[in-house]
Amino acid sequence: MRHDANLTAARPSFVRHLECSLTGEIYPADQRHGLSAAGRPLLVRYDLDGARAALSATVLAQRPRDLWRWRELLPVRDAADIVSLGEQDTPIVPLPRVAARLGAAELLVKDEGRLPTGSFKARGLVMAISMAKALGVRVIAMPTNGNAGAAAAAYARRADMEAVIFCPADTPEINVREIAAQGARVYRVDGLIDECGKLVAEGAKRRGWYDLSTLKEPYRIEGKKTMGLELAEQLDWRLPDMIFYPTGGGTGLIGMWKAFDELEALGLIGPERPRMVAVQAAGCAPIVRAFESGARHATRWEDAHTVAAGIRVPQAVGDFLILDAVRASGGFAIAVEDAAIEAAVAEAGRADGLLLCPEGGATLAAYELALARGLARREDRVLLFNCATGLKYPLPDAGRPLAKAGPIDWDAL
Ligand SMILES: Cc1ncc(COP(=O)(O)O)c(C=O)c1O
Repeated sequence: MRHDANLTAARPSFVRHLECSLTGEIYPADQRHGLSAAGRPLLVRYDLDGARAALSATVLAQRPRDLWRWRELLPVRDAADIVSLGEQDTPIVPLPRVAARLGAAELLVKDEGRLPTGSFKARGLVMAISMAKALGVRVIAMPTNGNAGAAAAAYARRADMEAVIFCPADTPEINVREIAAQGARVYRVDGLIDECGKLVAEGAKRRGWYDLSTLKEPYRIEGKKTMGLELAEQLDWRLPDMIFYPTGGGTGLIGMWKAFDELEALGLIGPERPRMVAVQAAGCAPIVRAFESGARHATRWEDAHTVAAGIRVPQAVGDFLILDAVRASGGFAIAVEDAAIEAAVAEAGRADGLLLCPEGGATLAAYELALARGLARREDRVLLFNCATGLKYPLPDAGRPLAKAGPIDWDAL
């Protein structure tokens, strides 16, 4: 099979319609949509019987290993609309030494830093921009904590669209620069991501920009869903016991939960599900607060702060979808301190040679905390999400100066 067969071959589309995630109200596919009339995310629904007949484990195994191998479960109907930068499968990497220290049976990391633009945001944005292309969009706009804006900029350029990106002024510098380097207009805003989102909504009204905010258009979640499809296949259709996901807007957690239902409808997995754990930072934990109080919706977290910029999201439009999935799975939401995040990043790098991003570090810190609180069992097979390459973040300067002319104390080196 050609290396790019998933991008070029004609394959059947099974999209039926879109559905309001709160009320179930139905909307036609193949038109531009934002939120539903109830102000909630729209979910894409497929003819899963049709997809089941077209997509077996054997068919999948013969296809090139990239995100587009799942075409029958994705919204892009026509291969000509696919906008790709090479969305390869990401590896599942064990952390054996960290696991040994914790007395844990199996500790795995899905390392999303290998994707284009160095983060899992590529999955959502490649889908959203491909659909925007199919729908004739010319200008997209988006609020971002950094990585999503970088992916949006790259794919928009690839599709020859304009991109207007708004980020909090203290967004990691590398993100702001890579957004600009990939041809987008990027604005540093004196506010948090939800306030950037308000500017995008206003610009969408005044300038006709297509609003790609998390869950405010229906297709980023379909791209993020591929994390669940992919990990199921990689693990031979046996899902892990627990998945720890660093939760900001929560698209990935919601998307994976949807993926598992679709895989079950296709007969590829049974009714078993992992316990889903929403990980947040102690300085911004609206989902944890709502989980603990039994609420279905989360209130805004004031004065949000954390070193893990990607999960500094004070309010999520899909809050109830995150909380529903976490509860239905028997999982939980948990907050970790910045110091624990930094210690986890340092340990995974030093012990097992895997450089996590701070958000990925948060999942490792959360797992350790969950063990200490008796929320996880050591015999569980646990999968952590490292959502971006650790290389995007400032690292401590630990280089030691050495004068080549000497004298060099070789025994001390
Ligand atoms: C590295 C990283 N991890 C996690 C997240 C949170 O992802 P989600 O919005 O799917 O909850 C982000 C979002 O910006 C991120 O950049």
